[in-house]
Amino acid sequence: MQDFTGKTAFITGGASGVGLGMAKAFAKAGANVVIGDIQTDRLTDAASQLAHITDAVLTLEVDTTDIGGLEQAAQQIERTFSPVSILCNNAGIGGGGEVLATPDERWQRVMGVNLWGPLNGVKVFLPGMLERGGEGHIVNTASFSGIQGHHSQGAYGTSKFASVGFSEFLRNDLAASAISVSVLCPHVVDTPIFYPDLKPSETDAIAERRASMPWLQDIAVSADTVGEQVLAAIRSGEFYIFCDGGDSRSMLEQRCADMLAAMERQFPS
Ligand SMILES: NC(=O)c1ccc[n+]([C@@H]2O[C@H](COP(=O)([O-])OP(=O)(O)OC[C@H]3O[C@@H](n4cnc5c(N)ncnc54)[C@H](O)[C@@H]3O)[C@@H](O)[C@H]2O)c1
Repeated sequence: MQDFTGKTAFITGGASGVGLGMAKAFAKAGANVVIGDIQTDRLTDAASQLAHITDAVLTLEVDTTDIGGLEQAAQQIERTFSPVSILCNNAGIGGGGEVLATPDERWQRVMGVNLWGPLNGVKVFLPGMLERGGEGHIVNTASFSGIQGHHSQGAYGTSKFASVGFSEFLRNDLAASAISVSVLCPHVVDTPIFYPDLKPSETDAIAERRASMPWLQDIAVSADTVGEQVLAAIRSGEFYIFCDGGDSRSMLEQRCADMLAAMERQFPS
């Protein structure tokens, strides 16, 4: 997809961080942007930021784990703009920690938002995209934690590996159609996901929390940069979207080397 003018993009979790970065990039490219989120205050704040770029903005309070809510969102989007042709299943929550130390409720919520959310998005929007027959694009936000298993990220990392797998199978399903797919795999992006309990207005507490995470400033890319990277990847038809080539390159090399070494031991060439 090259031309975004007048196309409608729906971005879940679009009121903050990576989702808002995508919304800004798509708005600058001329798209109608619809951001869905569960946090009303963030939606209001995001809408005022987007208003500096475009008038074609719709905010919707919608929880991606609620398929009925997504169906209503689809109807409202069609009434306001045109049917969705760029779907960004981006809403996600953290949930690190060791496997046994993570309570069942956390596992279920993380899998519910990070895997079932994108699945619900595809079930609600993809049939119409296929029926209408025009070109379309789906971006699923996974993570580099879904590419290489680093640190203790049991529930989160598992959900993101599932998101990468889901995206690969969806790409296969859609290979003969005009709908293309990307999977977004950022390593670290500077967003409120690292302090989800704090409201944007709690600026002192946010500053204090950020000071306790110096690595965030050291290695993170900005959400606006990621938004532009997604736009460029859609235009060039890129499936895997990586957001930095530093640490993540060596982690990916290590994973591939480990797997190939195991195959070589078991089946020497
Ligand atoms: N920040 C990072 O370092 C990083 C790295 C890799 C991947 N990601 C992924 O990027 C995506 C966006 O995260 P972010 O860092 O921008 O975080 P964020 O917290 O800034 O934004 C996520 C937004 O999703 C919303 N949300 C959560 N659950 C929802 C639901 N069920 N329905 C609708 N909205 C919901 C939140 O209210 C929030 O506004 C997530 O999928 C996350 O896993 C983030």
